[in-house]
Amino acid sequence: MSIDFLLNEDQLQARRMVREFAAKEVMPVIAEWDRKQEMNPAFLPRMAELGILGISIPVRYGGQGFDYITLGLVCEELERADTHLRVVMSVHHGLNSQALLQWGTEEQKQRFLVPQARGEKYAAFCLTEPGAGSDVAAMTSTARRVGDRYILNGEKMWISLATKAHHFLVVAKTDPDAGHKGMSAFIVTRDMPGVITGDIHGKLGVRAGSTGWVKLEDVEVPLENRLGEEGEGFKIAMSCLDNGRYTVAAGATGLIRACLEESVKYAHERATFGKPIGEHQLVKQKIAYMRQWYDAASLMLYKVGTMKNRGLRNTRETGQFKWYATDHSVQAALEAVQIHGAYGFSDEYPVERYLRNSKGAVIYEGTSEIHQLMQADYELGYRADKPLRCEMPAYDVEFFQGEPQAVAGD
Ligand code: CAA
Repeated sequence: MSIDFLLNEDQLQARRMVREFAAKEVMPVIAEWDRKQEMNPAFLPRMAELGILGISIPVRYGGQGFDYITLGLVCEELERADTHLRVVMSVHHGLNSQALLQWGTEEQKQRFLVPQARGEKYAAFCLTEPGAGSDVAAMTSTARRVGDRYILNGEKMWISLATKAHHFLVVAKTDPDAGHKGMSAFIVTRDMPGVITGDIHGKLGVRAGSTGWVKLEDVEVPLENRLGEEGEGFKIAMSCLDNGRYTVAAGATGLIRACLEESVKYAHERATFGKPIGEHQLVKQKIAYMRQWYDAASLMLYKVGTMKNRGLRNTRETGQFKWYATDHSVQAALEAVQIHGAYGFSDEYPVERYLRNSKGAVIYEGTSEIHQLMQADYELGYRADKPLRCEMPAYDVEFFQGEPQAVAGD
């Protein structure tokens, strides 16, 4: 039984819109772009036009004003079509725009969030470095204060949309000796001298997406572009990940569904030993597991989305959802390839792309191992969440959908 009965008309409508976009405009051409290892230049502007890039940003800040369950459903539909479209949402919406909504001053929201939510500007998130992934505090990028500006130097790696974004949320050390308390966050724009970007080629998966590196060479960033207080960078980065991980997990839910739907279709089409393979018990077992994983991940989406809507701290639940959904999307993709047999090994069918695409999400935004450690620490009482200076705004219709204020550019 589906639990769609929990969804309201707004949520259903947004899901229908994205499902239609995916079915008509993405699925028919995605294999070709994946093979070319290039991002279709039409997708980002089209997502902007449809309002997807600001789906859960308040109307007053240029967004569509939908709730966080809708954000999850949109990510599920996008990744049902291809992982790279959900990655766009993770970095542009989850890791960047939502951080501006949470931590930005009114002036920063007007200057940066409004054009991002409208899809006029694209945004990326720069935390990871060649030598600092899971261990965020090991980063070596620096931000040295000189009068009313900061001078940023360093190199960021595995940055989605590195060569496409106009705005970058960069975390760097303002006090290199102070560990996680010595980090600060900055809004860097592509037009600042010293910002250099490039693409990374030869990835296992998400080949239709854009992944790259960002170098910062004596980049002068004005004080008004610092996000939050000096020294708050680690907390801001972690709060960004609370938002980004939700979109990753919701997308992985869509990938499990993709594996399930393609496997069911193939199990009806393909016959062995005189009957459709769906009638063989071991194929049935794989289908049953995939359905179970999809339903469990969906329930987590509704649970975490509801917590976010209510403005409840959800680091623990989001981490569990991210770990569960991404791990099971890898398993679902392995099973889907197995069900397709030799055809699953070729790009004639989409399941080999699903398998390649599934692997990234158990690594980025917190490896499965980091999430297991965190979940165990919560359970054992070694980890507890403290209230933040700026909590993510709860979903409040008055705030999210109320009259738009005059925004810059209007
Ligand atoms: N929100 C706000 N604050 C938080 C927080 C959160 N979610 N989590 C922790 N904090 C705060 C803590 O309250 C603590 O505050 P105090 O200093 O006041 O005590 C402070 O931050 C330090 O927290 P911890 O002691 O929990 O820090 P830790 O060192 O134990 O954290 C870790 C370790 C959990 C492993 C963390 O470093 C982590 O999550 N690592 C994984 C990083 C990651 O996901 N990287 C992926 C980057 S994005 C990407 O992949 C690229 C892309 O483009 C997709």
